[in-house]
Amino acid sequence: MRIGVFDSGVGGLTVLSALQAAMPNHSFLYLGDTARVPYGTRSPDTVIRYATAVAQALIERGAQVLVIACNTATTYALEHLREICDPLNIPVFGVIEPGVQAAISHHTIGAIAILGTTGTVNGGVYQRSIAAKCPDITILAIPCPLFVPLAEEGITDGEIARLVAERYLAPIDDTVRTVILGCTHYPLLRETIAAVLPSVTLIDSAQATAQVVSQALLSSPTETDPSTQFFVTDEPSTFQAIGARFLGKAPKNTTWIDLNTLPKPTSSTPQ
Ligand code: DGL
Repeated sequence: MRIGVFDSGVGGLTVLSALQAAMPNHSFLYLGDTARVPYGTRSPDTVIRYATAVAQALIERGAQVLVIACNTATTYALEHLREICDPLNIPVFGVIEPGVQAAISHHTIGAIAILGTTGTVNGGVYQRSIAAKCPDITILAIPCPLFVPLAEEGITDGEIARLVAERYLAPIDDTVRTVILGCTHYPLLRETIAAVLPSVTLIDSAQATAQVVSQALLSSPTETDPSTQFFVTDEPSTFQAIGARFLGKAPKNTTWIDLNTLPKPTSSTPQ
């Protein structure tokens, strides 16, 4: 199978890496929408338009399965992309439900905090999903938008990253025992976050998502010569430099593509 994976930038590489480890005999197409990052501060309509254009680009390049390696796009575009992809027999997976399952299976006592983009926190999908499964758990949701440009620039440790983390994480007191990294960029700052919150369990959805996808594709045909291709919408060099730190090797096979055929916002009025 050829599995299309996308995010607004480098963050989804954490998910790609887990998917590759879980499914070494499948090929991957990864698209980082680096010209439009961040998604997390945009309106729901805009996120849906961007995610739709990215999904179309991956399908045109042969993706037979889609993994939305972005919490913001999962929050707003998962249902929309499933509607588009169902008639094409292309399954679409998001990262939120696997992340919630992983958090709940670890969590025993106290409150759960979700760190996410402004869009993910406002969209409330995490909060609703946890509350539906565990109505008695106290949930705290904190937007941490500056973590995204820090990850994109590779400033994931040191004084600047620590100061930003201390500021965002100040509301997390010792009633909180589990913290969900509800943005695929945040695992890139895992060590900095763990240093500020030494006594919580940090959950990231990459492994859990890879498990869900690999289970679903268990009986799918595998490839004898699997490959991974990378696409970005801005110039590739920064993506390659930062990506190398998270994949273990530079994402060499990286091609710039243009997504200039965005569909119009669904709620816009004609001028
Ligand atoms: N990595 C993304 C997420 O999981 C999006 C970050 C952004 O573009 O704001 O939400």
